[in-house]
Amino acid sequence: MAVSGTFLVFALFAFVFTHFLHCVISYDRPSSRDFVSVPLPNDLDSSSPQQVHISLVGANKMRISWITEDKTPAKVEYGTSSGVYNFSATGSTNSYKYLLYKSGEIHNVVIGPLNPQTVYYYCCGSNRVREFSFRTPSSQLPIKLAMVGDLGQTGWTNSTLKHIASSNYDVMLLPGDLSYADFIQPLWDSFGRLVEPLASKRPWMVTQGNHEVEKFPVLHTKSFTSYNARWHMPFEESGSDSNLYYSFEVSGVHVLMLGSYTDFGNGSDQYKWLEADLAKVDRNKTPWLIALVHAPWYNTNFAHQGEDESVEMRKAMEGLLYSARVDIVFAGHVHAYERFTRVYDGKPNACGSVHITIGDGGNREGLASKYIDPKAEISVFREASFGHGQLVVVNASDAFWTWHRNDDDEPVVADSVWLRSLEVDPNCKNMQI
Ligand SMILES: *[C@@H]1O[C@H](CO)[C@@H](O)[C@H](O)[C@H]1NC(C)=O
Ligand SMILES: *[C@@H]1O[C@H](CO)[C@@H](O)[C@H](O)[C@H]1NC(C)=O
Ligand SMILES: *[C@@H]1O[C@H](CO)[C@@H](O)[C@H](O)[C@H]1NC(C)=O
Ligand SMILES: *[C@@H]1O[C@H](CO)[C@@H](O)[C@H](O)[C@H]1NC(C)=O
Ligand SMILES: [Fe+2]
Repeated sequence: MAVSGTFLVFALFAFVFTHFLHCVISYDRPSSRDFVSVPLPNDLDSSSPQQVHISLVGANKMRISWITEDKTPAKVEYGTSSGVYNFSATGSTNSYKYLLYKSGEIHNVVIGPLNPQTVYYYCCGSNRVREFSFRTPSSQLPIKLAMVGDLGQTGWTNSTLKHIASSNYDVMLLPGDLSYADFIQPLWDSFGRLVEPLASKRPWMVTQGNHEVEKFPVLHTKSFTSYNARWHMPFEESGSDSNLYYSFEVSGVHVLMLGSYTDFGNGSDQYKWLEADLAKVDRNKTPWLIALVHAPWYNTNFAHQGEDESVEMRKAMEGLLYSARVDIVFAGHVHAYERFTRVYDGKPNACGSVHITIGDGGNREGLASKYIDPKAEISVFREASFGHGQLVVVNASDAFWTWHRNDDDEPVVADSVWLRSLEVDPNCKNMQI
């Protein structure tokens, strides 16, 4: 993971290139905070596990992912008491090259079966110097889902993460744009270290945004190299053949993780997978059905208006989600918060999904603060501030959504709403729109 001189030249070029793009599409955003770089702590060496994060696999397993600089075993030891590792499992190791950068050894081990709502202690590789722990979610409702998109790694990201860490959430959902490494691969490592204190304790379930594509003209024509190598999500288990879209179930919620930056049109692999996945949803088992996507299908901000990933993807897939009675669609991409009423095909609709944009994690590009006026009728609440969301799914019929603004460094609940599952009222007679 060394940064060579040639690499720095490339990094400078990449920075100028992306900076140029950002200037062309100018949003006049208020001050972003400085980039935070998290170096490898002094007490860790090249065989120490770093950038540890975990993700749900099926009903009772967890994937443990971490990186070492040296070749070390892909092995996890774990148990329910600190220092006592009664179980162990092995997995696989991969690495990737991006121009002159060569990644560390990326290890993935799936452990389980695990008991619900239980704290497990674990060590990665052959190194018992660092002990981590996580808590599995409950097998039944209620559950608290933390939600934040466009996270990045700035001073604002730090406050967002601090607030999320103190919320006692069960599972993190991230609708794309993670590190903002933007071709400069060591920044993926820095991001991994920044989120480790949270992502090693609770499952982080992510889908991709435009900043994950990292296709570079001529020099690196493959997409999602780093993202796919570092953030392996449980796509195989949901019948998908791509890490770019998948679904999973947790405590009575079926979650669709859709991919904005891969084919989504009628007849595409993602479309066919989504159709098949929705056909398998059993609302008796998972009364709540939610979706995450990066580019918002509804948006009254000037930022990112009219992009294909928003307009064409909505046209292609909204019908499927509407027929399946998806309760909420979360998006990122626009660096602000916005909540819509239940909507379908651009109009208020009692049987439609609530749409929420939560792209305000704190990345270096700053906020998108220009809105189209007058406010469209379907937009209920909109504000350009950093923050995160929490969805407490209380029971089969009711869930409480809150948006926690942290522009003032304190988490303030600035928007909240009770939502009712579309499952409990098939004719949508009592649905607020
Ligand atoms: C771990 O295994 C030991 C020996 O079999 C057993 O006595 C102990 O109860 C186990 N601990 C846990 C936490 O399961
Ligand atoms: C942000 O958090 C990281 C990791 O905890 C820390 O190294 C860094 O100093 C923090 N930076 C700021 C500006 O708060
Ligand atoms: C998708 O394509 C098929 C075959 O061309 C067509 O029959 C169907 O109506 C299309 N569905 C939508 C939602 O456009
Ligand atoms: C579900 O939770 C809501 C909010 O707390 C409550 O009003 C309602 O009675 C609960 N429903 C059931 C079936 O327990
Ligand atoms: Fe984005």
